[in-house]
Amino acid sequence: MDSIVVEGGTPLNGVITISGAKNAALPLMIASLLTEETLVLENVPHLVDVESLIRILTNHGVDYQVEGKRAGQNGTEGRTVHFTAGRIVDTIAPYELVARMRASFWVIGPLLARMRQARVSLPGGCAIGTRPVDLFIDSLRAMGATMEVEGGYVVASAPGGLKGAEYRFPKVSVGATHCAMMAATLARGRTVLDNAAREPEVGDLARCLNAMGARISGAGTSRIVIDGVEALGGARHRVLPDRIETGTYAFAVAMTGGDVLLEGAEAGLLERPLAVLREAGAEVEAHNDGIRVTRNGAGIRPVDVTTEPYPGFPTDLQAQFMALMTRARGRARITETIFENRFMHVQELARLGAHISLDGQTAVVDGVERLKGAPVMATDLRASVSLVIAGLAAEGETTVHRVYHLDRGFERLEHKLAGCGARIRRLAG
Ligand code: UD1
Repeated sequence: MDSIVVEGGTPLNGVITISGAKNAALPLMIASLLTEETLVLENVPHLVDVESLIRILTNHGVDYQVEGKRAGQNGTEGRTVHFTAGRIVDTIAPYELVARMRASFWVIGPLLARMRQARVSLPGGCAIGTRPVDLFIDSLRAMGATMEVEGGYVVASAPGGLKGAEYRFPKVSVGATHCAMMAATLARGRTVLDNAAREPEVGDLARCLNAMGARISGAGTSRIVIDGVEALGGARHRVLPDRIETGTYAFAVAMTGGDVLLEGAEAGLLERPLAVLREAGAEVEAHNDGIRVTRNGAGIRPVDVTTEPYPGFPTDLQAQFMALMTRARGRARITETIFENRFMHVQELARLGAHISLDGQTAVVDGVERLKGAPVMATDLRASVSLVIAGLAAEGETTVHRVYHLDRGFERLEHKLAGCGARIRRLAG
């Protein structure tokens, strides 16, 4: 297994190009199951999770083609990929494929809407928590489907097609919102989803579905109204920039000091994390071509943060922010409200010399003068990148083991950081 070696202590200076959002690309790719025509997605990031989902989609019968590079493209830009589900050949999503990535469970909505049946493996738990699928089951059941759990699979059927329904999510779920919204596009009549997730990726999916002929309004608010249509067609859609990648590099610059333009980033997608970053003492400027983050000389101020559904502070940036707070001048309290077990980076940060204690769902971080490099182990996607950020500011060498987690969600991480002066390299293992 590959590892990443970081030699800390160099400020970051230069330009980092932000990739297309993983969490937008995945549901957009799944939306291709809703139509027999071609869905063309631009700015699709090169990531292991994208490749895993392609494997699942091809198993259902989706053809995909990557557009050739055009003159002037340097090969580091997101790809344009064509997805065509002319004929769905299989409505079963097997355990071996779904177990790799939870988002693949979301195929259940489009398959059920178009083929009136689906059999999709339960995704199982993962390192950050139990992550059940009850909200997917309840919302599709509200649309008239029979939903049963049998031998580790969710078996869904709606022989007469799905019917529009009013459904209120008892808890905000990004995935269940994506899934129910996709399913409702082909249901008979009107569906109203209340307490829906407001994440920008939900809005991005709705824009794409509307370009395919769906009739969705309110996506991006907590009440989404979908008027079902007979069929959807093809479309061309550009994946929005990755706000989690943006926040990660913004925190990294605040950690090391320096001056970096995050090219292609959109400040409007991460107002709360950027406000927190300013409070912590970094300068953040929104420009037409991206976001510029600088920190010169001034120390890092401690800031208390609680993770919340969008527009609150994202759980996907909690670990990275904790890394930053390990060097703050004082005490910061970081509270996780979305996932019950998302503090596995705490032990690893402690190996680098961080002072963190856990009090239930709150991590109390007492900033230290200096971190010291050490071997550490990545435990999940966002936790692993928090260790890289800490390593960038630690004295000496930090080796982050098991970086396959990073490759699931960060495109060319070591190249992007090295391009700004970081001393970072990958060791093939
Ligand atoms: C998505 C993101 C992930 C992010 C998370 C929260 C993608 C591909 N992944 O994950 O990066 O960390 O949103 O912002 O977009 N829950 C239930 N029952 C359900 C579904 C969810 O109880 O049926 C719970 C989960 O266990 C969790 C909470 O709801 O505690 C939020 O999870 P959810 O928003 O569904 O996360 P994902 O969509 O899996």
